[in-house]
Amino acid sequence: MQAIQQRVYGDVSDLVDVTLPKPTPKPTQILIQVKAISLNGSDTETIQGKPFYTRIIGLRRPRKTVLGSDITGVVEAVGSDVTHINVGDAVMGDLVLRNGGNGFAPYIAADADAFAHKPEYLSFIEAAAIPQAGAIAVQAMRDALKLQPGETILINGAGGSAGTFAIQLAKLMGATVTGVDSAAKQQLMRDLGAEYVLDYRETDFTKTGERYDAILDLVSSRGPRALRRALTEKGRYVTVGGQTRRILQFALFGKLGGQPLSVLALQVAPKDLDYLNSLIEKGDVTVALDRVYPRSQLREALEYQLGWNHQGRVVVEF
Ligand SMILES: NC(=O)c1ccc[n+]([C@@H]2O[C@H](COP(=O)([O-])OP(=O)(O)OC[C@H]3O[C@@H](n4cnc5c(N)ncnc54)[C@H](OP(=O)(O)O)[C@@H]3O)[C@@H](O)[C@H]2O)c1
Repeated sequence: MQAIQQRVYGDVSDLVDVTLPKPTPKPTQILIQVKAISLNGSDTETIQGKPFYTRIIGLRRPRKTVLGSDITGVVEAVGSDVTHINVGDAVMGDLVLRNGGNGFAPYIAADADAFAHKPEYLSFIEAAAIPQAGAIAVQAMRDALKLQPGETILINGAGGSAGTFAIQLAKLMGATVTGVDSAAKQQLMRDLGAEYVLDYRETDFTKTGERYDAILDLVSSRGPRALRRALTEKGRYVTVGGQTRRILQFALFGKLGGQPLSVLALQVAPKDLDYLNSLIEKGDVTVALDRVYPRSQLREALEYQLGWNHQGRVVVEF
């Protein structure tokens, strides 16, 4: 099968076309014919090898060479230990925490327990857009921040992949939302429900004098002192990604000296996808799709995601 491989940290232009054998699933795995994948900050960060934490499993050279973790497709074979998924089932899931992916290829063998069933009301394109970004949003809002009705929340990086789900979940939970992102994404954030929007190139949200009950950070662009200035006395902060030194700082010292600053460790949780899918079925949450590319334009799709101009989700159809 034809796949796209990463051999060095660098740029999209460093990716190479290769022919690989079709994978065989292990006993706990399923073989999926990929129908669509979505692109996330984690893909473009791994291509570049930045932030530094993307090099955890390959300091100088990537050890995982076929990327693409956010996947949907149809099951073609199941391992002998797999009981809840059958051949012919449509599934969706994110493998960023497992083998890091393999979806930049037409077939992938992956751990069955990372996948939820794709409901019929979702197209493959919509289903591809949900797993990683949706799980980050659910686990940050519900589990880490425990957002309550009537609270205020600021979402930093709200116009990107996870942010577009996070805005909608925060609204459903009864919060007042301030979204921070670039100028081009102000309207999108409003359309998804944010009452207030800030352009981070114009306004430093830690210097406006506003204080929030909760902050979800998708870029980690500010230090502890500034963040605590933007939190109410009982406010709490969680970051998901961004600069490695900030993540380490928050993980090691975030509980010291003021309001708690924590780091979300994403969990593989197909149940969270079932939950989010049910909200989508009811019309309470929508998938903010930006662009859909054919597989032949995977590199163009990555360049678009990497160029930071995407508004919501970028999907590649196989
Ligand atoms: N903790 C975990 O277990 C875990 C698991 C998976 C992924 N992650 C991480 O989750 C993070 C979020 O990913 P994502 O997929 O949502 O990223 P994304 O799609 O790239 O979105 C990030 C958004 O932030 C905006 N932005 C850039 N610089 C900013 C700044 N200084 N202030 C405010 N907004 C800014 C970008 O817009 P513009 O460029 O247009 O400005 C973009 O809209 C990634 O860093 C990824 O590594 C963590």
